[in-house]
Amino acid sequence: MDVINDHSKSPVGIFDSGVGGLSVLRAIRSLLPNEAVVYLADQLHVPYGQRPLEEVRSFSEEITRFLLGQGAKLIVVACNAASAAALHWLRDRYPQAPFVGMEPAVKPAAETTSTGVVGVLATPATFQGELYTLAVERFANGVEVLQDTCPGLVQQIERGAMDSLETRAILRQALRPMLEKNVDTIVLGCTHYPFVIPHIQEIVGGSVRVIDPALAIAKQVKRLLEMHSLQASNVFVGDVHFYTSGSTDELSLLLPRLLGEGGEVDLVKWDRENRLSIGA
Ligand code: DGL
Repeated sequence: MDVINDHSKSPVGIFDSGVGGLSVLRAIRSLLPNEAVVYLADQLHVPYGQRPLEEVRSFSEEITRFLLGQGAKLIVVACNAASAAALHWLRDRYPQAPFVGMEPAVKPAAETTSTGVVGVLATPATFQGELYTLAVERFANGVEVLQDTCPGLVQQIERGAMDSLETRAILRQALRPMLEKNVDTIVLGCTHYPFVIPHIQEIVGGSVRVIDPALAIAKQVKRLLEMHSLQASNVFVGDVHFYTSGSTDELSLLLPRLLGEGGEVDLVKWDRENRLSIGA
């Protein structure tokens, strides 16, 4: 019964394999500053994109259970790979919780391209998933869709090496063949990739449009919170609590660079039964 509960202080739960979801969190923070957030980075298991979908689904299910246990009123699957592997499954499994997931923005790209060629940068898990296949089937309509998995790019960003020579080389290798085919729109189908937009834009030039879905996702979170009467009261300033299954020190160092703000970071541990709990 939503009406009798006070959801003002309940957090929005957000997760990703690592720091990628911070690109989505950044947009949510600027659109919904009153919302408290609990963010989980499963950095023990990053990258998700090279794992079988079943494995990513089982991580996603346990992380969702954990976040709901922390009082989350809505879950943002801020990871294209986890959305590909688990979004439908999670909605079936937890029908009481509203979910927002990621799907490569093939539709807006196909609708606005002038050259009829769009490029999608995403991880292998996302390209294998049904969400992507269906989006291409439904919306590509004669538009040529080029793909690249940018091997190693997620790891570079996890290391904070956004500006390294290696990062730029990975991007050049992905984007040059697309430019040769006259691409005019690049879809970012991995939440890590918005952190290298300046380098992408430098390679493709100012006339190529780069689509970062973060703001659209934040708007969808706002819509769903309103629809379910779950919004925070505007007297609160929402704080963000972070959990990582990797290194709390490393995440704490990266937060100000990627998000523009820090926060409390605690450790979570996976046990042998693949259950998550707050670590020591
Ligand atoms: N940031 C994630 C995504 O949007 C996952 C990257 C990875 O761990 O491979 O797909």
